[in-house]
Amino acid sequence: MRIQLNYDLLAQNTFRMKVSCACYVEYENVKELVGLNFDRLPQPLLHIGAGSNLLFTGDFPGTVLHSNIEFIKYIDMGLEEVPVIVGAGVVWDHFVAETCRHGLWGAENLSLIPGEVGAAAVQNIGAYGVEVGDIVSGVVCFDLRERKKVKLTQEECRYGYRDSLFKQPENKGRYIVTSVLFRLTRKHSPKLEYKGVRDALGGVEPQTPQEVREAIIRIRREKLPDPEEIGSAGSFFKNPVVSREQFARISPDGSAPHYDLPDGTVKVPAAWLIDRCGFKGAVEGGAAVYERQPLVIVNASGTASPQEVLALEQRIINGVQERFGVTLHPEVEHI
Ligand code: EPU
Repeated sequence: MRIQLNYDLLAQNTFRMKVSCACYVEYENVKELVGLNFDRLPQPLLHIGAGSNLLFTGDFPGTVLHSNIEFIKYIDMGLEEVPVIVGAGVVWDHFVAETCRHGLWGAENLSLIPGEVGAAAVQNIGAYGVEVGDIVSGVVCFDLRERKKVKLTQEECRYGYRDSLFKQPENKGRYIVTSVLFRLTRKHSPKLEYKGVRDALGGVEPQTPQEVREAIIRIRREKLPDPEEIGSAGSFFKNPVVSREQFARISPDGSAPHYDLPDGTVKVPAAWLIDRCGFKGAVEGGAAVYERQPLVIVNASGTASPQEVLALEQRIINGVQERFGVTLHPEVEHI
């Protein structure tokens, strides 16, 4: 276990904000976590994964916790379905890469998403027609309020679009995920609803999850910044859901990209709205709107400050609000 005071968080957030925390705790296993004297740590407590969906808006006055619980355990009984238990600190894409190598279907569309397994189950990360909640069977946590271990079923996790029980205001910071149970399968089951994925596969039906993974990696490399090269936290905004009437005002001829949802509402790509407002490449100090995917704000200079990112965020929100009457909400968590 590592406990450090006045810790520099530059390497703990993919946006590369130069911020610090009063205390940083990294633990190796559940025993170390449960044995922590939480009340004596600087407050508040914040548990992070790889810090790939966070914007620190300043120095953090409390304790940042990070899990190094790293194991992948297959419960292979020779059946079609293969349950896999994974430690919360495993790098998400290491897990995806390994399961694809083993020919297990389920996680391949979520290839190359930055982050760790525990945070993936909290955020309900999603891409190319699949959300992590679709393949989660259960989540094992430490309940900080009751100070005991709990197991939650997939239903209890109440997964929605980038949403879960863990993100509800009344549960904020309550649960620390220690491991996640996934349900993968040997059965040939590619998810190809997303047109970009079919195109990247050249219209050929994939035979293995590895083929899908490779196609996804090609798409992501083309559109999204490489976290090794340029700081960002992925999509900065959620895609807004609007009424049919509102959509007709946004796009009178209906030509704007959109997805009709089962309840009659319409999801509009925020990237399109932002693009239409002319924000592609917009700059605020060292922060910029990424040219290839305007849903992403990047730390273009490498030294952008939280204030510059926040200023750019506000300009985009105001611009989209004025032009389309739609309020964008950040997807990135502001700390
Ligand atoms: N678009 C433009 N201009 C552009 C780029 C895109 O108008 O320059 C429009 C296009 O119409 C395009 C549409 O935006 O069809 C949607 O773009 P894309 O398919 O790239 O996906 P997205 O809706 O912008 C979401 C997720 C991503 C995920 C992709 C793929 C959210 C907030 N974002 O983005 O997730 O990878 O779908 O499934 O739901 C993340 O959460 O950090 C993230 C990257």
